[in-house]
Amino acid sequence: MSETVLILGATSGIARGAAIALAQRGRNLILAGRDEEELQRIASDLTIRYNISVHVRLLDISALNEHEEFVASLLHTGEILAGVLCAIGYLGEQETAFTDPNEASRIMTQNYTGPVLLLDRLAQLMIPNRAGFIIGIASVAGDRGRQSNFIYGSAKGGFGLYLQGLRNRLFREGIQVLTVKPGFVDTAMTYGMPGMFLVAQPEVVGEGILRALEKGKDAVYLPGFWRYIMLIIRSIPEKIFKRLGL
Ligand SMILES: NC(=O)c1ccc[n+]([C@@H]2O[C@H](COP(=O)([O-])OP(=O)(O)OC[C@H]3O[C@@H](n4cnc5c(N)ncnc54)[C@H](OP(=O)(O)O)[C@@H]3O)[C@@H](O)[C@H]2O)c1
Repeated sequence: MSETVLILGATSGIARGAAIALAQRGRNLILAGRDEEELQRIASDLTIRYNISVHVRLLDISALNEHEEFVASLLHTGEILAGVLCAIGYLGEQETAFTDPNEASRIMTQNYTGPVLLLDRLAQLMIPNRAGFIIGIASVAGDRGRQSNFIYGSAKGGFGLYLQGLRNRLFREGIQVLTVKPGFVDTAMTYGMPGMFLVAQPEVVGEGILRALEKGKDAVYLPGFWRYIMLIIRSIPEKIFKRLGL
């Protein structure tokens, strides 16, 4: 039996960082996403550099009726799903989403509904092994509703709550669930975004994810100082917060 780790949204900047950290630890990988060419490029690079086995699977998380088939054909004979990292996310544009239900729905499906429905299915694959891990990337944006991104923020906040419940449910099955809340990270998602500060590199966040997993943490802010920034943000009274334009 060989163990493998599945990365959902493997073309993501943060996922690439985490894939390197996993590969350095000798983990075999399945890279899932929409862009087959880019996934193959990442797979070849990881195979050559780290001498691990890497497969590619196509996945559009918003095609909810294709999840069953994706899970059914995921593993080769003799392969065990040892872990899952879900890095899929879509920032979208708040003002567009506020007036266009299609954009709002896209943000909710790609950040919440799709990941939740697929992780539920993947958990069923892992439960019989009574071991393994599920890592979900939520966001500091999910810690407090803000006027500048409340559709994305609420989807990420909901995803964070889901992960918390999943962690409680899977505890007795011996499966670790880690919630990751990154601050600003230098990836395609934030490219050219105004007003960013204390921006982290995806490789640093990727390594931070693995360290948190190895320490057996339930949830982690990355970089760690975001814990204190969010403590302050959460403690500002609503009467003041709504006037700040954040
Ligand atoms: N960057 C930040 O500052 C930041 C901060 C907090 C949280 N996060 C979260 O961190 C995670 C990784 O994001 P990132 O910063 O690395 O950004 P990214 O490079 O833009 O990655 C987003 C990933 O989601 C995938 N994706 C989007 N819609 C999909 C769909 N319908 N089906 C399958 N895959 C889909 C993208 O695939 P394609 O290549 O096919 O588009 C890409 O792999 C996301 O969950 C994001 O919300 C990021």
